[in-house]
Amino acid sequence: MAEDLQAMALAATASSKAQQDPDYPSYHLAPPVGRLNDPNGLLVDGETYHAFFQFTPSHPARKLVYWGHATSTDLLTWQHHEPAIAPDSPYDANGAYSGTALVLDDTETDGAPEHARYQLFYTGNLKDPETDERTASQCLVTSPDLQHFHKFAANPLIPSHAPGYTAHYRDPQVFRDPNRPGEYRMLVGAQRVNETGGAVFYRSRDLVYWDFEGELSFPDAGGAMDHLGYMWECPNLVQLTDEVTGQEWDVLIFCPQGITPQGEGYENIFPCVYTVGVLDGLTLRECDGSFYEVDRGFEFYAPQVFARRPSEPGPTLLMGWAGNASEDDQPSVDSGGWVHTMTVPRVLSLRDGRLVQRPAVSTGWEAVGSGSAPAGAELHADWQAVPKLSGSRHWQLALRTAAGERPSWGMRIGANNCHVDVVVDGDVLTVDRSTSRYSQHGARRVVTLPAGAGTQVEVLHDASVTELYFGDGALAFTLRTFSQHGATGVRLRSETSQRLATLQVVRRD
Ligand code: FRU
Repeated sequence: MAEDLQAMALAATASSKAQQDPDYPSYHLAPPVGRLNDPNGLLVDGETYHAFFQFTPSHPARKLVYWGHATSTDLLTWQHHEPAIAPDSPYDANGAYSGTALVLDDTETDGAPEHARYQLFYTGNLKDPETDERTASQCLVTSPDLQHFHKFAANPLIPSHAPGYTAHYRDPQVFRDPNRPGEYRMLVGAQRVNETGGAVFYRSRDLVYWDFEGELSFPDAGGAMDHLGYMWECPNLVQLTDEVTGQEWDVLIFCPQGITPQGEGYENIFPCVYTVGVLDGLTLRECDGSFYEVDRGFEFYAPQVFARRPSEPGPTLLMGWAGNASEDDQPSVDSGGWVHTMTVPRVLSLRDGRLVQRPAVSTGWEAVGSGSAPAGAELHADWQAVPKLSGSRHWQLALRTAAGERPSWGMRIGANNCHVDVVVDGDVLTVDRSTSRYSQHGARRVVTLPAGAGTQVEVLHDASVTELYFGDGALAFTLRTFSQHGATGVRLRSETSQRLATLQVVRRD
């Protein structure tokens, strides 16, 4: 009898101790048990946000990837549901890999597969047990209500890679073609036979029959994008309006594996970058070949934006994996049987051609008044606790330094002998987690901030994950912070008697 993979996942979840682990986050999405990696099929449905994700319930015993499923109405509390896709079909037996969602309007459901409003596209991963040869197919799951999920009977939609590419061919993003109403496009991350990375397009009218269109090219990039790494994972095209110029751009976010650019950054095993241009058929025009890391932290990968139905527009929200490949050796595997979290959703924008990310959960601020804390006062050379956050393991803090002063401040999360330090000195950010319980994939990192960005920071700390947003979203830095278990709250200091303009906090425990 075939193994009941869904039952196996439910049993693993039922016996999970993850949520009792003091390192388990309260407002970042984490797996109910086992391992989580990329966000998948993110979508907004009325008042509810749905996050699917790469989910390995039996990690580390058995590395079989499902699509997990969680929902939220406030982006702060996530409720887990049964996995939406189990890898129990001949075409996805070695994993239901990453992909995206399409939420159809009433006018679109008529011709859609199974007339279903929700269409989830993913990669079926298959490995021949004898030869280890891989087959990557692009597959469809439909849902009438986001509670019941049906694998499409005629799966796979695209049974294999196109000529000229290898089986490293995955992570479909499906979106409406704004220039041809009634037509859809699929962008797939690919590896060429010469082992360089790229992305290819397919086109469809009915979401079932997909024609290969060709490869995404960059005519104005002077060849800069042609040999960028050996594989592009999780490509995501996003339309954004520049806050300064009002101009519309197409932003390509992707994860080119195996690149080593000159200059600062790119310290992570695999990077996640973006480049800006104008999508015109198969070309990203006006992209001059410049690309930038989406997030400068130790842990960040494979982000995607939330899909919306056209009749319910809203802000462009992005969520990423606060993790990276081959970095499963975290303390939470032993203490709670789980590993990795997501970032919080971020509102995306562009400012003078550069990506801006602001956390979508900045509500409930409480000003920390002078007298009780350093707001409007000076930070001194000794560590000063932020009193409202003492004892708190889950908090947010927004700090702005006094106008006209060169920023110079430090923040310590954890105890003196086991902590993570964030230090800003002018435009130089140093993050040091070398004394923490997790530093093996990056202990200390120095980042040049955009000019002036060190004067303003928003910090989201949640048990063992921390996100730093500098300069009104100009630079994001995500990291895992396994500081001392019992040590909670946060302390501030400055060697130059830094004056603060504002200090606001939210407790989230
Ligand atoms: C990125 C990735 C994707 C793949 C998935 C498998 O982290 O490697 O390319 O679909 O993870 O879990």
